[in-house]
Parts: sequence; structure tokens; C-alpha cells
Amino acid sequence: MDVELPSEASLDEVFTLAQGLLTGETNRIANLANLAALLGQYLPRINWAGFYLAEAGTGDWVLGPFWGKPACTRIPSGQGVVGTALASGTSLIVPDVHEFPGHIACDAASRSEIVVPIRDPSQVVVAGIDVDSPWPDRFGPPERAFLEALANRLGTLWSEWHGYDERV
Ligand code: SME
Repeated sequence: MDVELPSEASLDEVFTLAQGLLTGETNRIANLANLAALLGQYLPRINWAGFYLAEAGTGDWVLGPFWGKPACTRIPSGQGVVGTALASGTSLIVPDVHEFPGHIACDAASRSEIVVPIRDPSQVVVAGIDVDSPWPDRFGPPERAFLEALANRLGTLWSEWHGYDERV
């Protein structure tokens, strides 16, 4: 892969960069790992960006590729910001995580958070994008629109992708 990255980028530019990173690779972990790194590099004032993936059988949301400090590996459906957003199937912005009952603190520095569901082509929520910031009220309509556009793109590609031990 030959990707030349700018030193700064607007949300529109990050989306374009993401589309470039997703071209030509169908391994799910590889693609999500690069996207987590991209979000970590280009979203200012954040301390964590990554993915939680649905686990067949348990219904838990399990840690996927991310950028930031080590995080909680498993979030039961309906719990925390992640489990709440993904159970409801809608994006959730929490302006101050200290005010969110049941917030799961993976990094004590986190103060605000956004979680956006990823739906596969049959509309099943298969994963979520989670981004945390050390600043309260960091996320608003521009970040929501950007992450929802990214989630739509990922959801469309999802069923064309495979893991390390399976082939489409
Ligand atoms: N704060 C999340 C847990 C995941 S971390 O922020 C990476 C929650 O309450 O679900």
C-alpha cells in the first residue's frame, strides 16, 4: 500500500482518506485497524478511537481495533455508552460522561464520547465506532455526520470482508 498522508485534514478529507485506505483490502481487522489509526491521527482533541464488534452467541460488544490506551474488552448489550447506543441502533453523543449513568470508564481521562452503530446490508448492527475525548462536549453534528457516513460505508462493505481464518 502506498498512502501519502497530509499533516492535517478536515473531516471531509479524512473521509476521503478513509475511502482510500479501504480500497483493495478485504480483511476486516486490517481495514478497521487502519481506520482506527486514521481517526487517532486526524481527529483533534480525542484520546481514544476504535471499534466494538458484535460477538455471536453472547451478544456482547467485544473490543476491536483501536487507537489509544488499552480498553475494556467486553461490554454487555445495553450497558455503558457503547452497549446503550448499539442496543438502540442509533448514534449517541454523551457531552459529559460523568453525567451518564452506567458509563464504563476505560480511560479516566475521557470526558465526552460518541458511539455510532455500523449496520450490515441486512440492517443488523454488527459493530460500533466509539470515540472519546478528554474535553467535555467535544462531539456535535459535524462529528456525528462524519462518523455516520463512515459507518454507512463500512456497513456496505462489511459482508464483503473476511477474517483471518475465513474466506468469502
Ligand atoms: N466508555 C464506554 C466504554 C468504552 S471506552 O470508552 C473505550 C462505555 O461507557 O460504553
